[in-house]
Amino acid sequence: NTDIQIAPSILSADFARLGEEVRAIDEAGADYIHIDVMDGHFVPNITIGPAIVKALRPHSQKPFDVHLMISPADPFLEAFALAGADIITIHPEAGPHLHRSLQSIRALGKRAGVSLNPATPISAIAHVMDLVDLILVMTVNPGFGGQSFLDSQIDKIAEIRRMIDASGRVIDLEVDGGITRSTAPLARQAGANILVAGTASFEGGAAAYRDNLAALRAHI
Ligand code: DX5
Ligand code: ZN
Repeated sequence: NTDIQIAPSILSADFARLGEEVRAIDEAGADYIHIDVMDGHFVPNITIGPAIVKALRPHSQKPFDVHLMISPADPFLEAFALAGADIITIHPEAGPHLHRSLQSIRALGKRAGVSLNPATPISAIAHVMDLVDLILVMTVNPGFGGQSFLDSQIDKIAEIRRMIDASGRVIDLEVDGGITRSTAPLARQAGANILVAGTASFEGGAAAYRDNLAALRAHI
């Protein structure tokens, strides 16, 4: 299936060889490079900062899909934009003013994303539909790769798909967490057009990346 895109999350890559890993997953057919930024405060894990995004930039021409699980996010938006992010996604709870944060991302010339945690209601984005370029539905609680897909989020994905279609705007619908060969079709059928996959992309090491991405595509 070619109209669905895959965004491998480098959270599951070998952090000691991140440049090579980005290059390898790009060459294996990634549509985006999904970069999970965690601060040990908004989520219970710490990962990557703008310096690493900048260091990775020369290793791939694919869009960098930067998922900020940090609070506050506003003080770091410019740094991630300058480091080479193409999409910057924030969580409404990162506060204090989602609308202003989205305006800031767009003013930096980047695509603005909003991510909804499993317990976050759709109403959180009802009044920013004119500002978002991407909606990211979490199908795990953010913080770690390798968790199980939450089926409870499927109706939410479908409802957001209806909202996007009704908006008349071009808005990507991305699903993140627990995507495997068996859950990818569920996200797809509910209306997602970008699937994040960490474990499913990087398992087995570099020799397996091409087959991993091809197998995901074959199952959706
Ligand atoms: C979780 C991250 C995800 C994670 C997905 O907080 O936002 O992007 O890397 O990993 P898998 O695909 O292994 O669930
Ligand atoms: Zn993510």
